[in-house]
Amino acid sequence: MQSTFATLSLGVIKRQYALLQSTFPTTRFYYAVKCNNHPKVIQCLVDLGSSFDCASIREIRYVLSFGVDPGSRVIFANPHRSQIEVDEAVRLGVEMMTFDSEFQLLRLCNVKKPLLRMCPPSQENQSVKLGVKFGADIFQARRLLQLAHSLGVNISGLCFHMGYPIGPIPPILSMLKTIQSLSSEFELQLSCIDFGGGFDNKLPENCQKLNEQLKVIQKELSLELQCEPGRFLVQSAVKYFTRVEAKNGGTVFVNGSCFQMFFRDMLKKNTIKVQVVKEGKCILNEENRIEEDKNECEKENEKCKVQCKKFNDTNQIIIRGSSGMQNDVFYKGKMGDIEVGDYIMIENAGAYTISCMSQQLDKFCGMEALQVVEVQ
Ligand SMILES: Cc1ncc(COP(=O)(O)O)c(C=O)c1O
Repeated sequence: MQSTFATLSLGVIKRQYALLQSTFPTTRFYYAVKCNNHPKVIQCLVDLGSSFDCASIREIRYVLSFGVDPGSRVIFANPHRSQIEVDEAVRLGVEMMTFDSEFQLLRLCNVKKPLLRMCPPSQENQSVKLGVKFGADIFQARRLLQLAHSLGVNISGLCFHMGYPIGPIPPILSMLKTIQSLSSEFELQLSCIDFGGGFDNKLPENCQKLNEQLKVIQKELSLELQCEPGRFLVQSAVKYFTRVEAKNGGTVFVNGSCFQMFFRDMLKKNTIKVQVVKEGKCILNEENRIEEDKNECEKENEKCKVQCKKFNDTNQIIIRGSSGMQNDVFYKGKMGDIEVGDYIMIENAGAYTISCMSQQLDKFCGMEALQVVEVQ
């Protein structure tokens, strides 16, 4: 068995996608590629009919290599780009791009579908506040819409991302109201509203009211609705495993590294947790897991979960990754019995992790690219 690997379940992605579709049946999804760009993830989403939110030319080229139509299924949603990047995206056939400043608006004069990115109100208890880097407030938005008018640039849509987690519905509804009033004030002929990402697992109950309001707007302004989900689709589809290779007093050394998966922030903020798995062989066998009997596999996984130890025992330990970097630390604190040969497991590791271990970064500290194994 590999000493370090991640499992990827496309079944989970399909389930999450279906859940989002049933919640927002009239909305088109632009998956945020930065969240997890593993080729199997992208192919799965292409097959499901998703469109794509790209943050760079490299991401655009990448999704186009899967046969995605640039004109109808790609949004270049990073509002801060150079003129060279904008021109390249246009050359590649991308029509939809966001902007939130005068500089960027001037760069988008040849773009077919410019979208003004609005800044959402700041909310408490969010781990990701996109408003701190993106988006025009209402005053800037008015200025930008006036400038667009005087330049003869037709604004195709308005968009916003509430941050993660998306939070309560009233602020979202108030963003939609602002959009409606800007639309009538400037007599915009909007073809879409994009309400971003940030969805968490409370989605279904939470979003019913929002969905109703979206339907009203869609009818009133006869436009398309779109959103840019990332984490919701992929976070729970990936588990990371790495073997305990050595112990020295309270220091435990594992084969993998936090830098393989860009984990450090999440581990520090406790949004993902380290668990210990005994008898790792029941998670993944030597050769090819995909051919295993699926029911057997499920049973084995259940058994493993029972054996997982949480952090409620007495020993203080530190679990270090193998890069040799001082801050390559998976866990510090109390942990039950942990032996060489055990595995540490991190669930919900599919968002903003794997993309960071792909091509360019896989040589960091001489590390191999992480092996990703497909499971049910
Ligand atoms: C412009 C944009 N759209 C969509 C997303 C995806 O957000 P989430 O993963 O919270 O759904 C992000 C994440 O940073 C983003 O910057």
